[in-house]
Amino acid sequence: MKLNFIIPLALVLAAAGCNSNNSKKDVPVYLDPSKTVEQRVEDALSRMTLKEKVAMTHAQSKFSSAGVPSLGIPDIWHTDGPHGIRPEVLWDEWDQAGWTNDSCTAFPALINLAATWDRELSHLYGDCIGAEARYRKKDILLGPGINICRTPLGGRTFEYMGEDPYLSGQMVVPYVKGVQENGVAACVKHFAANNQETRRTATNSIVDDRTMYEIYLPAFKAAVVDGGAWAIMGSYNLYNGQFNCHNKKLLVDILKGEWGFDGVVVSDWGGTRDDDEAIVNGLDIEMGTWTNGLRGAASDSYAAYHLANPYLARLADGRASEDVLNDKVRRILRTVFRTSMSAEPHFGRFTSPEHFAAARKIATDGIVLLKNDGALPLNVPEGGKLLVVGENAYKMMVVGGGSSNLKTKYEIIPLDALHEVYDGKATVVWERGYVGDPTTDYNKVVTGQDLSESRPADVLIADAAAAAKEADCILYIGGLNKSAGQDNESTDRGDILLPYGQEKLIEALAATGKTLVVVNISGSPVAMPWADKANAIVQAWYGGSESGHALVDVLTGAVNPSGKLPFTVPFALADGPIKTERQYPGVREEGKQWWQEYYDEGVFVGYRWFTSKDIPVQYPFGYGLSYTTFDIADAAVKASGDGWKVTATLKNTGSVAGAEVVQLYISDKEASVERPVRELKGFEKIYLEPGESRRVEFTVGKDALSWFDAGKHAWVAEPGDFEAQLGTSSTDIRATVNFTLK
Ligand code: GLC
Repeated sequence: MKLNFIIPLALVLAAAGCNSNNSKKDVPVYLDPSKTVEQRVEDALSRMTLKEKVAMTHAQSKFSSAGVPSLGIPDIWHTDGPHGIRPEVLWDEWDQAGWTNDSCTAFPALINLAATWDRELSHLYGDCIGAEARYRKKDILLGPGINICRTPLGGRTFEYMGEDPYLSGQMVVPYVKGVQENGVAACVKHFAANNQETRRTATNSIVDDRTMYEIYLPAFKAAVVDGGAWAIMGSYNLYNGQFNCHNKKLLVDILKGEWGFDGVVVSDWGGTRDDDEAIVNGLDIEMGTWTNGLRGAASDSYAAYHLANPYLARLADGRASEDVLNDKVRRILRTVFRTSMSAEPHFGRFTSPEHFAAARKIATDGIVLLKNDGALPLNVPEGGKLLVVGENAYKMMVVGGGSSNLKTKYEIIPLDALHEVYDGKATVVWERGYVGDPTTDYNKVVTGQDLSESRPADVLIADAAAAAKEADCILYIGGLNKSAGQDNESTDRGDILLPYGQEKLIEALAATGKTLVVVNISGSPVAMPWADKANAIVQAWYGGSESGHALVDVLTGAVNPSGKLPFTVPFALADGPIKTERQYPGVREEGKQWWQEYYDEGVFVGYRWFTSKDIPVQYPFGYGLSYTTFDIADAAVKASGDGWKVTATLKNTGSVAGAEVVQLYISDKEASVERPVRELKGFEKIYLEPGESRRVEFTVGKDALSWFDAGKHAWVAEPGDFEAQLGTSSTDIRATVNFTLK
């Protein structure tokens, strides 16, 4: 029997919450793209129940936090990582879900980006990775990471931007803007003083205010104030006694207070440790793994999160105020209206040729030429033989390393790129040389390589040395990798020596008397006691999908190297500023639950230490050679407004085009406190044709002269004499001009 229900259309539409005439004037404000974000936030907030508000403040799955289903406000999707969009995972798993459409572009590690010293490339990077996040419908990109390289042992140095706050700050701003131009929030991490992996969830960083404001905060401040970052991730460690995912001083006083941050604070995964602090100390979204993030999975674990049922209980009995809750929800809604519900629609792009080209350009321009006696560009005679030695010529590096692990469409390894160039002209042979990390998978992402090896170490070395006899040139490609104890999240390195017996292997290759080019692929400093035995040395990085092409572009001279070190390469770890256990990795103290780590070295981090103490290093911060040469001359300084203009002429005095990074360091000649002998306060990367000159100009304001006076809680520029030092590294000062602050 056919039932004919004739129900007035208006009734049906009304029941569905629509309006029969569906005119524009009836669109709720929060859904109206013509309204401001703030108007949409307030309207949406006014329509939410208490439970809906609390639901937004914590995870509902491994990588999502709740939207407002009843209002059509979508869930928020978070995604790793700083180098590319992590493969999709199941609702509550770390392992990949096995999708077949989520193989991304793997961009270079951020240390590689930092080594380009090129702000425009950083913006390109952010735009490309932001487009990939948007295309994968992700709203918060969990990156970039910008923690300062305080110790070369730091396991995540490869994910960050080096040892200097100014370089990190200048390079993070364009990245953040590029990401957010795609309607994706950059979530700058890990805030703050999170400078090691050892016991990262149980160590209290004890840092004086001057050191915090001069070294560990500036890059985050730049990301927020200059970059307009929409999200910040609290870090696992404690700072001055409080966990950073709900650290009042960092999140309430500094980030949201002094810096006026209007975005959302997301915890690191499992970094939230206290019910009451999580509510009142500035945390907005508690993300994590299981209940409290650190204990094993409980049933209905997300409901047991600090900002879940415990929060509802405190709201119900009056221990928590709805005003504080509303501030959290406003920030979360603001994030939604900036991303998935942005008035300006964004659709992103994924694995486009432009993205791989960008990855190649960034990887190439960050490669650092450390030594060259003429062996580079490679000169392999027609019909000759190039011997390639080392696991890193073959091993894929995009898989592994922790949360920055990626499933990528492809990864060009150095050996394949060498074959592309030389096959048909010369013979390329490969000797493993050593066994490093034979694993080829992480979170069920597999590289498909076979890195198994039956020969023992001494045979591997003997085979490589024997193969050298008929070779015209030896290209060694070794270094570190992404395995535990190397460049890897959650573990630090044990020392800065090359692992896996590589030093012995390099000595054996040098003993053959053949031309030896050494490429160190790593994300952190490696000691090079063998440096005087190599004809040429290159510091290459985890360059992502186009890594092999980038390295071979430089080795063959197709591209003139222009990278500069973003950290110091010391002769020995002991030469650095960290001398005691209490400085690193921290000590136990009577009556204290957590490990205590004292940043006793203060502001004397990296080159600030080595240059101020006149300690020689293997290769200094800011150092990098070219296939051409440059000269800096005619430096001058003149007062300009309430600051100074420092100018100089850069000239390409060699025979090939290339780029140089002119670095400006400021030296305070008469301070009332001990200051580093010089501090980076400007840089410009300039590309010149042979013989070409260009005037470079820096504006120096009082901020560049200032140090942070903790007593006054203010930056002070003390009257007196200053030097503006122009150089091509932190130890190679080519011109100095003097000026006086009245
Ligand atoms: C990890 C990392 C963080 C990452 C997050 C999600 O523990 O510290 O960088 O974004 O958890 O994977």
